[in-house]
Amino acid sequence: MSALPIPDHDALLSSQRLMQQIQQLIAERGGWISFADYMQAALYTPQLGYYSGHSYKFGSSGDFVTAPEITPLFAATIAADIAPLLPLSGNTVIEFGAGSGRLAADLLKALAQQQALPTHYYIVEVSADLAARQRDYLTQQCPELLSRVVWLSSLPEQIEAVVIGNEVLDAIPCELVYWDPTQQPWQRGVAWSEDGFVWADRPIQDPRLQAAVALLEPGPDYLSEVQLAAAGFMHTLAERLQCGAILLFDYGFPRDEYYHPQRRQGTLMCHYRHHAHADPFLWPGLQDITTHIDFTTVAEIGLQHGLDLQGYTTQAQYLINAGILDQLAQFNPEDITHYLPHANAVQKLLSTAEMGELFKVIGFSRGLPLEWQGFLRGDRCRYL
Ligand SMILES: C[S@@+](CC[C@H](N)C(=O)[O-])C[C@H]1O[C@@H](n2cnc3c(N)ncnc32)[C@H](O)[C@@H]1O
Repeated sequence: MSALPIPDHDALLSSQRLMQQIQQLIAERGGWISFADYMQAALYTPQLGYYSGHSYKFGSSGDFVTAPEITPLFAATIAADIAPLLPLSGNTVIEFGAGSGRLAADLLKALAQQQALPTHYYIVEVSADLAARQRDYLTQQCPELLSRVVWLSSLPEQIEAVVIGNEVLDAIPCELVYWDPTQQPWQRGVAWSEDGFVWADRPIQDPRLQAAVALLEPGPDYLSEVQLAAAGFMHTLAERLQCGAILLFDYGFPRDEYYHPQRRQGTLMCHYRHHAHADPFLWPGLQDITTHIDFTTVAEIGLQHGLDLQGYTTQAQYLINAGILDQLAQFNPEDITHYLPHANAVQKLLSTAEMGELFKVIGFSRGLPLEWQGFLRGDRCRYL
């Protein structure tokens, strides 16, 4: 923690304003809020929250790097994979949580090259600030394609589309549950003391959280996350998909591995200027707060709504199946100045020591009589 760079004066002032707002919320709610409410406020309070404020988050000058920021070959590979699905999915793409807009721009450019442009590319984004930045970025990068892009603040009631989300589920506020030494579960929330935010445990009253916790028995003195809101998001998405596909990328595990007895401190992580740490109370609004994904729950929800689970695999396997090495082969290895940066970026996406293994990809479909290239080999659904 001592190595974290200190934010500038204005950033600290903005964080203090957000702290006061959260403190007030805690007071209005009788001295306690759930962790999900804290995370919602820290990330999404208009103007002040991490995703709703004005700081630059993505890429080398931000706080963390996501796959689309590393190389356009990520988007080009997805484009090649979804191009055959689009004519059967209303010729429409819906992207959730589009971040800087990089994936949208690179996907559209790659789909144009492959003569597979969708009629519409919808972006569903909860942050007004990010939606404005995405528009600016797309205007710069592909003005000729901008007329196809439409921003939505909520999900359409009926979806006929290929739906894509990269690192969105992990940014949806989660609940925290602490199993005490007698294995009794408590909802861990946030209170305020004169020294700042403090943890406070309460009996679990929310029936949805009670039901989720009833499935788990991770052991004594154990802290972990339960992604109720992400599950709600998945229910809505799965229910509304009439025809098409859902393709989600994120870091996470199957349920058994997620709630493994040895993972006693959960998976909650914070990111500030490329430093990762575990204190979500530090500088609210200035740092990302994120959680890994329980992919068993994600798969179960899709299946409950009658979707076909097309596959669940590692990011490396998905990208290889979908042809990322063919994308790389378009560059001449002898032309080192062009080839090397792309080869290094692909290595980062595929390496088990970096993003290849921890990041997973899950795909669902409804009404698509197709083999889906990205999931043809190395399927891991049996571990879910
Ligand atoms: C970690 S960032 C990932 C950004 C981008 N997909 C990328 O890979 O660089 C999470 C994104 O999801 C958005 N987000 C979070 N919850 C959302 C929701 N319920 N619906 C749509 N977007 C959401 C955030 O505002 C942000 O744009």
